[in-house]
Amino acid sequence: MRPDAACRALLGCLCLALYCLSAAFRFSSDTHEWKKLIMVQHWPETVCEEIKNDCRDPPNYWTIHGLWPDKSEECNRSWPFNLEEIKDLLPEMKTYWPDLIHPSPNRSRFWKHEWEKHGTCAAQVDVLNSQKKYFGKSLALYQKLDLNSVLLKLGIKPSINYYHVRDFEDALTRVYGVIPKIQCLPPRQGEDAQTVGQIELCLTKEDQQLRNCSEPEELLPPTREAWLARAAQSRGLRVCEDGPVFYPPPKKSKR
Ligand SMILES: *[C@@H]1O[C@H](CO)[C@@H](O)[C@H](O)[C@H]1NC(C)=O
Ligand SMILES: *[C@@H]1O[C@H](CO)[C@@H](O)[C@H](O)[C@H]1NC(C)=O
Ligand SMILES: *[C@@H]1O[C@H](CO)[C@@H](O)[C@H](O)[C@H]1NC(C)=O
Repeated sequence: MRPDAACRALLGCLCLALYCLSAAFRFSSDTHEWKKLIMVQHWPETVCEEIKNDCRDPPNYWTIHGLWPDKSEECNRSWPFNLEEIKDLLPEMKTYWPDLIHPSPNRSRFWKHEWEKHGTCAAQVDVLNSQKKYFGKSLALYQKLDLNSVLLKLGIKPSINYYHVRDFEDALTRVYGVIPKIQCLPPRQGEDAQTVGQIELCLTKEDQQLRNCSEPEELLPPTREAWLARAAQSRGLRVCEDGPVFYPPPKKSKR
C-alpha cells in the first residue's frame, strides 16, 4: 500500500469510528428525551375492581394517577423521594392523589413510585425541577382541568346504565378542545361492557398547555411491543373500544 493510500484508509477508519461514537452518544442521550406530559386521572371504583383490592370507601371523584412525560422513565436514580419536601402539599395530596392500591398506613409509597419513575424525567423542565414543583404543579393542573366538574356539568355521572365511549370522547373534546385518551378495563366473563378507568389529557412540554395526545402523524396504531408494554404498565387498562361503557357508581360502604 502506498503511503497516501494507507493514510486515506486510516482516515476512513477514523471517520467511521467517530461516526459510530456519535451515533452511540446520540442514542444514549435520546433515551430520556420526551415531548409531552400526560396528566393521568383514574376512577377509584374501577382501580379497586381492577386490582381486586378491598378498597374501603374509595373516593367518589376522579383522582390523580400521575403526571407522566411520554417516552421516558426513571431518569435519575440518584434523586430519592423526600416526603419532607412536600409537607405543605400533604393535605391536598391525600385528598386528590391517594394511593388506592396500598391505602394507609403509608400513603407515600405511591408518590415515591411516581416521583422516581416519572418525576425525575419531568424535572427536565424548570417548572417541574424539584419535588415540590412536580407535585405542586400536578395538583394545580388537576384543579385547573377540573375533570370532575366537567363531567358532571355535561351530565356524565356514574350510573348503572351504560354510556357510549363517544359520550365521554365528544364531551371532553368539546370542553378541552383537544382529544383525550380514554382507557377501559375490558369486560370480564359475564359482563357485557367495558368499564371506564382512566382518562389521559396531554400537555405541551414547554408551557403545560393542553394539546392532542397524538400527533397527526401518529395516528397509526402503536407497535405491538409498545402496546404490550403499556398494557402491562397500566395493569389491564387499554384504550376503550368503540361501544358501550360502564361508569361504575361507588359501592356503598359496608361499615
Ligand atoms: C440527579 O439528581 C441529583 C439530585 O438532585 C442531581 O444532583 C444530579 O445533577 C441529577 N443528575 C442528572 C443527570 O440530572
Ligand atoms: C413510608 O414510605 C416512605 C417512602 O417509601 C418511607 O421512607 C417511610 O419510611 C415509610 N414509613 C413507614 C411508617 O413505613
Ligand atoms: C387535534 O386533533 C384534531 C383531530 O385530528 C384536529 O382537528 C385538531 O386540529 C388537533 N388540534 C391540535 C391543537 O393539533
